[in-house]
Amino acid sequence: MHKIELLAKSHDRDGFDCGSELLNLFLRQTARQHADRGISRSFVLVDEDATAPKPILGFFSLNICQIKSESVTPGEAKKLPRDVSGVRLGRLAVAKSCQRQGIGKTLLVAAMGKFLEIFNTAGGIGLFVDAKDQDAKRYYEQFGFVPMPSKELELFLPVKTIHEALASHP
Ligand SMILES: CC(C)(COP(=O)(O)OP(=O)(O)OC[C@H]1O[C@@H](n2cnc3c(N)ncnc32)[C@H](O)[C@@H]1OP(=O)(O)O)[C@@H](O)C(=O)NCCC(=O)NCCS
Repeated sequence: MHKIELLAKSHDRDGFDCGSELLNLFLRQTARQHADRGISRSFVLVDEDATAPKPILGFFSLNICQIKSESVTPGEAKKLPRDVSGVRLGRLAVAKSCQRQGIGKTLLVAAMGKFLEIFNTAGGIGLFVDAKDQDAKRYYEQFGFVPMPSKELELFLPVKTIHEALASHP
């Protein structure tokens, strides 16, 4: 069985390889520092029975963000104050050996669940993500992320879509 845990010393960060050196380095060198400093939080997917150092099969990082509402969607902006808060999915990656097995999807659903915890406590209009390229953009679009009009590779998942997605993944 897989489970999702807050990144900790017991996880094998050095052994993780998703094929993108930038994302590997973030996990190895930056993710725990960011957590200590309150910049972001990273969550890893591991095998429940693994012993430390536990191999990391995939991870994502989240941070609180502020957005100009006019950059979201012109239709929505009229109903919102100028500055609104959301949650940024800063990173999402799956180990090369585990890609195309649904782990990315599992991590996205978990990120939506984390968003809802924040939403229920402090609000937020949705999840934001900077796709690293057109391939990643297409990947996010299939889960309901919509491109932001202002930025080519930035996408937004509205809270309404998150509620609907989680209702079908209880
Ligand atoms: C992109 C990534 C996170 C996807 O994770 P994954 O576990 O391989 O993907 P999943 O198995 O959840 O895929 C779900 C669906 O997306 C599709 N898909 C997978 N990778 C895709 C990609 N790069 N582009 C478009 N669609 C993709 C799959 O076909 C699958 O659909 P299907 O099962 O109905 O056929 C993973 O490949 C990865 O870590 N890549 C390297 C790092 C990266 O690009 N991260 C994105 C950061 S912006």
